[in-house]
Amino acid sequence: MIIAVDGPAASGKGTIAKALARHYGLPCLDTGLLYRAVGLSVLKRGGDPDIKADALAACDFGDEILADPALRSEAVGSLASRVSVHQAVRDALIARQRDFATQPGGAILDGRDIGTVIAPDADAKIFVTASVHVRAERRYKDSLAQGGQPDMDSLIADIQARDTRDMSRDHAPLKIADGADLLDTSDLTIDAAVQRAIALVDAQLEGR
Ligand code: DC
Repeated sequence: MIIAVDGPAASGKGTIAKALARHYGLPCLDTGLLYRAVGLSVLKRGGDPDIKADALAACDFGDEILADPALRSEAVGSLASRVSVHQAVRDALIARQRDFATQPGGAILDGRDIGTVIAPDADAKIFVTASVHVRAERRYKDSLAQGGQPDMDSLIADIQARDTRDMSRDHAPLKIADGADLLDTSDLTIDAAVQRAIALVDAQLEGR
């Protein structure tokens, strides 16, 4: 069984994917981390994320980078979004994602193109979204909790820039996959969003 969870930055897709993984007893892969690893690796090599050859060279990252705390920062999220426009980068990461998706027993993957490109035949597909304002507020609270000094206007601008790049790129743009159910988490608590996601997945599995 494969469950695909897609959606924009800070929509809650990672939290929902992990909760679904616990509920259904499946392993879960946050595919954004792979693109973040490429983005951080470009930075460490002094490369330019917008230059295809630099981004491709950075795909050869060591797995230790996946444990780097800097991976979760908004700056690396933005670098990840920039390297992810190159088809060569997407190709370099595809085998790892497909191998994870097709492991015996099934899997959950979250990202931007799981239901459209990585696992178009997934057994269940959810597209998680939330308003830009709500997503920026979530980032604001996270940053405050980590001792940061967030600025709401720049968080909104970052999220809008990332949405625009991820949705308008030529290769595997972020969009709602055929057969996916939309889950808007703007007005939902985490618990309510998770319960709704489980209900949507169960309904899709029953309908197959
Ligand atoms: O989910 P995230 O914020 O960690 O993703 C970081 C960036 O990586 C995102 O802005 C675009 C890219 N990405 C992608 O192109 N395809 C995926 N399946 C996952 C992430």
